[in-house]
Amino acid sequence: MRIIVAKDYAEMSKRAADIIASQIRINAHTVLGLATGSTPVGAYEELVRQYNEEGLNFGNVDTFNLDEYIGLGADHPQSYRYFMDEHLLSHINMDADRAHVPDGLAQNPEQECEEYDRLIRDLGGVDLQLLGMGGNGHIGFNEPNDIYTAETHVVNLTESTIKANSIYFNNENEVPRQAITMGFRTIMQAKKVIFVVSGKAKSKVVKEALEGPITPKLPASILQLHHDVIVVLDQDAASEMKLKDNFIMTDDQLFR
Ligand code: F6R
Repeated sequence: MRIIVAKDYAEMSKRAADIIASQIRINAHTVLGLATGSTPVGAYEELVRQYNEEGLNFGNVDTFNLDEYIGLGADHPQSYRYFMDEHLLSHINMDADRAHVPDGLAQNPEQECEEYDRLIRDLGGVDLQLLGMGGNGHIGFNEPNDIYTAETHVVNLTESTIKANSIYFNNENEVPRQAITMGFRTIMQAKKVIFVVSGKAKSKVVKEALEGPITPKLPASILQLHHDVIVVLDQDAASEMKLKDNFIMTDDQLFR
């Protein structure tokens, strides 16, 4: 596990975007796994800038989002499909057919999950998976649980996630209670993972996830078992970690 501690959110976003952009430059046919939420917004802005100003080419890239609310369609402003269009996809040269988000309006969500997994497999799996983390340690919508669910599946959201996500809705009652999420197998089979966490509020959970026991009760902790994960934290998120100096790659060490 490589850990980059950036001084603030802007620098964290730039570092994350640079890693994603490098991946696309190395392999134009990259399959990217993407996340929504507030954390990756700055990284998406930077990717759009690199597309506009530095010719970053998304023409042969495929993307798979981690999750989607059940009951929200592409035209609902709180759907994750809408979020991706707004923050990234409509600003770059990506073929709409290659940008995949689970269909929240699928008649048969279980079948949608199976088809989503099959499509990812057919394209050779995810090359680089971008992950954020919820305040309760969830990744995708894999909530704290007693078991790891491997495949893409339907999940009931926890009260804490409903509350956290209600800031984007008029009130808590409007937050969907269920979602489709990639499971742990797809996430862990990604060839590379980039895990971004920002802010003091998540500092204790990120410390537990990266330095504590590996358990489905804290879903992000499974990332300790991934063979190629780059963690990009801002200083606030890293503030509780016990990392030794030589384990942290600060900017100076990374870019000298
Ligand atoms: C969303 C997703 C979630 C978010 C998490 C953190 O696609 O995968 O796991 O990464 O809820 O959200 P923010 O960044 O808004 O704190």
